[in-house]
Amino acid sequence: MIVDVHLRPEDLDAKLREDARRGLTSDPKYLSPTWLYDARGSRLFEKIMRLPEYYPTRTEFALLRQHAADFAESARPEMLVELGSGSSEKTYVLLDALGPYLHTYVPQDVSEPALRSAVTRLTAEYPNVTVHGVVGDFTDSLAHLPAGGTRAIAFLGGTIGNLVPSERAQFLAGTAAILRPGEWLLLGAGLVIDRDTLLAAYDDAAGVTAEFDRNVLRVLNDRLGADFDPERFVHRAVWDAENEWIEMRLEATEAMDVRIPGLDLEISFTEGEQIRTEISAKFRLAGLAQELADAGFVVRHEWVDPDGRFVLIGASRQ
Ligand code: SAH
Ligand code: TRP
Repeated sequence: MIVDVHLRPEDLDAKLREDARRGLTSDPKYLSPTWLYDARGSRLFEKIMRLPEYYPTRTEFALLRQHAADFAESARPEMLVELGSGSSEKTYVLLDALGPYLHTYVPQDVSEPALRSAVTRLTAEYPNVTVHGVVGDFTDSLAHLPAGGTRAIAFLGGTIGNLVPSERAQFLAGTAAILRPGEWLLLGAGLVIDRDTLLAAYDDAAGVTAEFDRNVLRVLNDRLGADFDPERFVHRAVWDAENEWIEMRLEATEAMDVRIPGLDLEISFTEGEQIRTEISAKFRLAGLAQELADAGFVVRHEWVDPDGRFVLIGASRQ
């Protein structure tokens, strides 16, 4: 099994500390969504993908099934790099379509357990493709990804929406920077749709998303020795109509103090105080195409599902 670790546990730990200190001493409090995905968080996310309310996964999956061959024909990559690949559950559709061209698949994710199990599975299922996993952060270590042959980068699942606009611009520019002219990006993004459908997708009836969101507090307990009681926080999903993003928040059900020995920090919550744990921006086609153009991409394909909920974009580097 080939897995490069660009993000060692100690680097990840340092990032977590820096991020938790900055976010939890800010007003309002916030945390980076990256910490949602430890082994338990990644498993909960796999459960989210199967929820009836969570339309993005099955919508994107259908788009991939329909258009992966067109993408393959246009981009003809020898190496497919997938950023934030997670469990790589949808990837086989792409790998099958890219079959005639592809020699290497590079899944990259910050969650080492999720990445390792995906690499093990895909190595067995695709004997003709070299599966080269990378544990890394797509916001800062793209330059170290393996090179070789014509590349395409896939960034699926609407994860682009989890970056705030400034991070997003930086990310797209960074992605363009590691591609050569004529190489391609395959981007999956959620579109602006009605508020009720959106909110249900991020606050399901069975409470799986709530459990996933609260998992970030368990991560702080495990890694920094904090004494958060996750049961004293409720999950809220709020549609921010101005920014056109869903905001995920954890709300304290009562006033409390929390100790975080790993940061030598004590913080307090008032009743009803919230921590912002994630945004999930939704896009309009024209706006997203403009952002891609600003980063140096030319949009060649826009594949949208019949309900207008999700887009797969095939763009080439100028
Ligand atoms: N691409 C998959 C998973 C999406 S969930 C799909 O479409 O279903 C988002 C994934 O991004 C998770 O696997 C998470 O571990 C990963 N992730 C989050 N922040 C990251 C970062 N900064 N760098 C790399 N991966 C990250
Ligand atoms: N990339 C996913 C999305 O924006 C992540 C996600 C789905 C998520 N559901 C969530 C993050 C709930 C936090 C809480 O759709």
